[in-house]
Amino acid sequence: MRICLKGGRMVDPSQDLEGRCDLLIEGGRVAAVEPQISPGNARIIDLTGKTVLPGFIDLHVHLREPGFEDKETIASGTAAAAAGGITSLAAMPNTEPAADSAAVVELVRRKAAAAGHCRVYPVGALTRGRRGREPAAFNELYEAGVRAFSDDGSPVADSRLFLQIMRALARFPGAVIISHSEDLLLAAGGLLHEGAVSKRLGLPGIPAAAETAAVARDIILAQAAGVPLHLAHLSTAGSVELLAWAKERGLPVTAEVTPHHLLLTADEISRSGAVAKVNPPLRTADDCRALLEALRTGLIDIIATDHAPHTPAEKAAGLKEAPCGIAGLETAAPMLFTELVGKGKLSLSDLVRAYSCRPAELLGLEGGSLRRGAPADIVVIDLEAEGVVDPKSFYSRAGQSPFAGSPYRGRPVMTIVGGKIKMERGVVHEQKG
Ligand code: DOR
Repeated sequence: MRICLKGGRMVDPSQDLEGRCDLLIEGGRVAAVEPQISPGNARIIDLTGKTVLPGFIDLHVHLREPGFEDKETIASGTAAAAAGGITSLAAMPNTEPAADSAAVVELVRRKAAAAGHCRVYPVGALTRGRRGREPAAFNELYEAGVRAFSDDGSPVADSRLFLQIMRALARFPGAVIISHSEDLLLAAGGLLHEGAVSKRLGLPGIPAAAETAAVARDIILAQAAGVPLHLAHLSTAGSVELLAWAKERGLPVTAEVTPHHLLLTADEISRSGAVAKVNPPLRTADDCRALLEALRTGLIDIIATDHAPHTPAEKAAGLKEAPCGIAGLETAAPMLFTELVGKGKLSLSDLVRAYSCRPAELLGLEGGSLRRGAPADIVVIDLEAEGVVDPKSFYSRAGQSPFAGSPYRGRPVMTIVGGKIKMERGVVHEQKG
């Protein structure tokens, strides 16, 4: 099927393109990008007034299946992704069983293909069962096509084991370690960022050092092993300084930031309670500023949601008992357009670079570009569309968000994956056949 997207404003930093352009899709790929295309017998979609971007690529998503289907399934999580304009995602391995074998990786792939909402790249575990005691079966995972490895949700606390793992993975071309950098002893018992808010509420805090010290360790270990290291969900200004240190030395270190760490502070806990409980915790306004500045300059490479859904009942258990995690797939784009692009704090082109182009480069994925020949993975945005975040309308099973009730301006209105329309005006299509 041939589709011609006509009249939209295209923003694609991968080819320095910003302006009105037509785009022809043929055989699931971009066949042409030109100021005016005569569509012939192609289906025409008029996108006048809309913005056309390479589909978002989210490298940090918890789909929860197998094992925690009451929180999310591969079908519900990938539908939420399509609703959020995401065309590819990396699925974290903290499932039950953990993705530490080719069998689990294949299961995730099979279910994702059956759901058909977006591309899914399973992340393999670093340690067997994610228990932090022995390396996972890297040969088997690599042969199954896995290129990113992480125990996300937990750090590999044993430095000796982590160095051994890094040295082993350094031998696999293209393999990247995604580190959940946390010093468990420093973080133990904490419910929110240690600072003014934790003192006011009289609750145990998690010091910034619980992350920053672990980031330092992980960078030094990766330097010793010579392995590419990607730092997940950075939340402190100190981590940003260490990232700069690593990049100045030319180390293959990259990093991500989540929308909630960019846009929310520990104060959010007073408003949203356990719904805003997340690991690493929401920090201070100074941390948010440092993270945004690093994102703007490209020091922080990518935006990733760390979509971590939990059931409404689990989140209702109170701040102490509730699990950590924020569901981000369906709020990322509207909140980033509204709070950053709309307020002139981040250009649309920099947002696309961080949420489409760089993630593809980082894991060596197709996508992240609307160049001729690229897969037709596309998100169409209506930058004028206004609304209010309503978790009841989520495709995700997590029926809550700290952004609930936030007004937004700008949202994805069409998601195309491999030339097939997966979402239109907020409605995700069910896979046929
Ligand atoms: O808040 C979080 N939730 N942080 C993590 O690192 C893991 C995640 C989860 O899996 O729930």
